[in-house]
Amino acid sequence: YDYDLLVVGSANADLVIDVERRPAAGETVLGGDLAVHPGGKGANQAVAAARLGAATALLARVGDDGHGRLLIDSLRTAGVDTAGVLVGGAPTGVALITVDPSGDNSIVVSPGANGRLTPEDVRAADGLLRTSRVVSTQLEIPLETVVEVVRSLPEGGRFVLNPSPPRPLPGEVLAACDPLIVNEHEAKVILGDSAAGDTPEDWARRLLAEGPRSVVVTLGAEGALVAETRTETERRTDESGAGVGGGVGAVGGGVDVEVTRVASVRVDAVDTTGAGDAFTAALAWRLGTGATLAEAAGYAARVGAAAVTRRGAQESFPTGAEVEAL
Ligand code: RIB
Ligand code: NA
Repeated sequence: YDYDLLVVGSANADLVIDVERRPAAGETVLGGDLAVHPGGKGANQAVAAARLGAATALLARVGDDGHGRLLIDSLRTAGVDTAGVLVGGAPTGVALITVDPSGDNSIVVSPGANGRLTPEDVRAADGLLRTSRVVSTQLEIPLETVVEVVRSLPEGGRFVLNPSPPRPLPGEVLAACDPLIVNEHEAKVILGDSAAGDTPEDWARRLLAEGPRSVVVTLGAEGALVAETRTETERRTDESGAGVGGGVGAVGGGVDVEVTRVASVRVDAVDTTGAGDAFTAALAWRLGTGATLAEAAGYAARVGAAAVTRRGAQESFPTGAEVEAL
């Protein structure tokens, strides 16, 4: 493999204003000075992985404009291979973000060029897909593009999806996820309203029953839950041990599901923007190095925790040494 991780996803310029509280409909509030940061869930994942030391490539589309140059510069500085970052077709995606005093954010995204990342672009990047150990995506690009990624995965290639912003997913995409990574909000959208009264452990079990090979539910400061069937755990052990494959057909029975809680690290949150992306990237990379799902999620929780202690998305992501120090 040439790459530990290939991210297929969005790149946005984040226009960020600190606010005391968010305006209600028809209301105006005054905020702090405008900050422009490189962001977007795809570019964030790529930068996060590269800063941790993963050989990383990004397939994305930006506009031929200043925001696009800001993003390419941030990606290159982090060491991401940007040969797959296509330029033109629409303005670079923009995210309008407000951050409140607790560090929580609200985001509106104008996809711009992200919406022009097509299935044809994926087919043209076949060489990247075939040489990447793990491929991860999110949902700020067209769903048909994500479907094409799933169809283009090489034999034995591992696919990681954070369905953000969430929407119902086709069975073909769900079945490829290993894992599907969701927060509470995303879990509820994918499971539908009936999930409202359930606990996070219920969500993990019910999501797994929808077809993914594994599921991770992130719980912010509470860490995460990881879920897979015992059959799947045993199959992986067989594969890494005696090289015995198969057994995949047994997955999804939903009977003997193993749910493990993974702790987080206590930190003072300044800005949570991009922390979920850093979590996903770190987890995807560690899985490719042979870590178990619980080990990878434990590492990813520390990466996410480090990211919330600093402002912005990409600028807030830790190096491997900073994660060890945490
Ligand atoms: O996940 C955080 C990201 O969401 C921000 O960087 C913003 O661009 C939006 O895509
Ligand atoms: Na941050």
